[in-house]
Amino acid sequence: MKHYQVHFQPDDIKVMIHHGATLLEAAGLVGIILTTPCGGVGRCGKCCVQLLPSKKDVLACQFRIEHDLEVYIPDSSRFFKQKILEHAISREVDSDPVIQKIFIAQSPSGIQQLCQQIFGIIQAPCIIDTVHSDGIQEKLAVNTENGVTALIACRQDANAIQWSVMDIEEGDTTDTLFGIAVDIGTTTVVARLIELQKARIVATVSAGNPQAQYGADVISRIAHAETELGLDTLNKSIISCLNSLIEKVCRKVDIQPNDIYELTVAGNTTMNHLLLKYPLRQLGQAPYKAYSLEASDQNPGNIGVQINPAGNIHILPNLSGFVGADTIAATLACGMDATEAATLLVDIGTNGEIVYGTKDTLVAASCAAGPALEGAEIEFGSRAQTGAIERVVFEEKDIDVDVIDQAEAVTICGSGLIDAVAIMLDLGIIEPTGRFTDPLEHDPMMSAKIKRRLTTYENAPAFVLSGKYNNGTWDHAVMMTQKDVRQIQLAKAAIRAGISLLLRKTAHDESQIQKILLAGAFGNYIQRENAVRIGLLPNVPVEKIHFVGNAAGTGAQMVLTSRSARNLAKKLAQKIEYLEIAHQSEFQMVFSECLFFPEK
Ligand code: FES
Repeated sequence: MKHYQVHFQPDDIKVMIHHGATLLEAAGLVGIILTTPCGGVGRCGKCCVQLLPSKKDVLACQFRIEHDLEVYIPDSSRFFKQKILEHAISREVDSDPVIQKIFIAQSPSGIQQLCQQIFGIIQAPCIIDTVHSDGIQEKLAVNTENGVTALIACRQDANAIQWSVMDIEEGDTTDTLFGIAVDIGTTTVVARLIELQKARIVATVSAGNPQAQYGADVISRIAHAETELGLDTLNKSIISCLNSLIEKVCRKVDIQPNDIYELTVAGNTTMNHLLLKYPLRQLGQAPYKAYSLEASDQNPGNIGVQINPAGNIHILPNLSGFVGADTIAATLACGMDATEAATLLVDIGTNGEIVYGTKDTLVAASCAAGPALEGAEIEFGSRAQTGAIERVVFEEKDIDVDVIDQAEAVTICGSGLIDAVAIMLDLGIIEPTGRFTDPLEHDPMMSAKIKRRLTTYENAPAFVLSGKYNNGTWDHAVMMTQKDVRQIQLAKAAIRAGISLLLRKTAHDESQIQKILLAGAFGNYIQRENAVRIGLLPNVPVEKIHFVGNAAGTGAQMVLTSRSARNLAKKLAQKIEYLEIAHQSEFQMVFSECLFFPEK
């Protein structure tokens, strides 16, 4: 298949994608999520983008890529922009960060006068904590000529709002006020540098989570952190990762770490515990209790994060031992606190997190899907990396594959696995139980090209997805084995059983789901119809399924730039009911039912 480059502006992000793909798919591949209220069928016109340099408007969901392109994506076509507006978290509120700067032209003589002058500007009382007062007093004694800039922070609880002065800087430094929103994933850490006053993303950097060397999943990290030394190692490892991302992003836009005044963190419960060096042993044993679920504010120096020492590190609240702040942040970003439509949010990973409901009732669960959908425990499986088959299509009586970086296929990653299973079901190569069918049961019209892909691997039936066919044998074959199909069944049954139990909890059935939001990197790459075909997602029309990308990162960004969003995150953590799936009496029965693939 031919591939072309699409260059998205103003994000300045490039992606390679196959001939005939839509601009909507290309944008999704690089995490630019467009708004698609009509589900991408070309009716609503909301996904409008501009081809450059002609400035011609086209619908991203309909425009098929047949050559290299440069494309401008207006804010009005972006999903999150729309969500923010839709739920009345207005631009004004959005640029209302917890940490702010105020320039005072006439330098105050002491801290009392400083507080009075600030009161005169913000019309709200302002205090100076004893920890800061001596330092501020000293600075006031020398920094008087060009006025001073006060760094103030809002502390808000259910009853009162309190501003406090954290520091003062000489002269007018109000133009320099940055924050970083971080999504600490088990595998990847993503940091967005935000200009706080404008709530604008300035740069994004990411890195692999270095804790991976001590275990790929949260369970092995918890085991490693059982000893004090193990906990210390994992804590230092994530702190040094954060510091190197801070350094990297500062170099990228030519600012200093001191220009960063707040960092917000949305990680899963284990990642948050490791960052704060909370004891973890109890998270690895039933009943899997977190040491703390509360949101936390920390002095950067106390935990070793190198931003402005007068700044703040805010960790969003968790919901339970296995539904963390990342899910709270994603729920916030997707506006589930305000939605009238029954919405299912699904984040597929080793642990699949799901949230279902409306603004009135929200229920969440964690499903132990295992790593199969991330390519682990699959014979030719891998994560999404160079040489991995990421897409499988059936055309002209044969199958064709898309391989990451257009390399020779050597593995298959999660999105390719879902496609492959869907096609194998459609072709009758496997039956709804997951068993490879006997060749005698095959459709007599099955093409010769498909038939020759049927082979064996370690004495069991297998299906070749890619390879070189020579005189009846396959070289460099990448194939799906019977064992792989079983692994996919187990993973999809875990997620689907979780969805079924949340629906039961809310006395809903699948027909009442009005919207499905797929979050996380993995969700971005899967073919919606194939996820429905294999029963990973409920049987809803594909136009009701939307990709929302790194929603956890967006939630962390909202909490960084908006005081009201920060409060909403806290309220969500109290409001969402957590359902312990494995403790439900119907779990085994529902799980067994979900192991089957749907009939055609
Ligand atoms: Fe493209 Fe509706 S017209 S999503």
